[in-house]
Amino acid sequence: MTNNSNRTIDIKIELRKRALDMARNNRVLEAFAGDGVLWDAVQSKYGLTVQRTRVDRKKGYRGAYIVGDSLQVMRSIDVHSYGIVDLDDYGVPVTHLAHLIDIGYSGVVVITALLSGLSKPPRLLLSKLPPSWRDVFGSQRTITIRELIADYLHEHGLQRWQVYEYNNAHKYGQNGTRGIYALVDFSDRKPHNG
Ligand SMILES: C[S@@+](CC[C@H](N)C(=O)[O-])C[C@H]1O[C@@H](n2cnc3c(N)ncnc32)[C@H](O)[C@@H]1O
Repeated sequence: MTNNSNRTIDIKIELRKRALDMARNNRVLEAFAGDGVLWDAVQSKYGLTVQRTRVDRKKGYRGAYIVGDSLQVMRSIDVHSYGIVDLDDYGVPVTHLAHLIDIGYSGVVVITALLSGLSKPPRLLLSKLPPSWRDVFGSQRTITIRELIADYLHEHGLQRWQVYEYNNAHKYGQNGTRGIYALVDFSDRKPHNG
């Protein structure tokens, strides 16, 4: 079972095909692997072979994968050998992004960041945000997740990214989710703020 609704799965698959076109190799680290539906679909739809390392903290998904916190796994393996890191999170994969920036990763990163609005972020998320992000919440305005991610990437010299905004509130009302799917080219990073 995956959390990908039919309405949006095609966009997520398309983004990953674009990531492959940009990447320096076909090695993919699926840090939020689930059943691996998206990369299965990329392979079958486009007739491509992808070398995958799947990680998920939950047991019981299909196929072979590493069970554990992918941030810990990323700290113990050579992430640089992967042309693509896939962060298909239910929330905002901020600690994973920060780690990739810290280690100077230079491949392609695919991000899913979902949250209905960030004016009142969960406490846990807030505690994980870098200081510059936390300041945003001191102001009274509601910031969108797109702005938040854009600010963060920009602050770290990451200016080449493609983004798709996602909102299914019209279908699910208050239970709907809103967020972004994005593709970030870390090879073009121009650090300017340290
Ligand atoms: C949106 S689903 C991934 C779906 C998947 N991309 C696919 O194609 O089927 C998100 C997954 O991330 C996993 N997850 C969340 N936080 C994690 C973490 N820190 N480390 C590893 N897996 C995590 C969840 O257990 C869940 O299975």
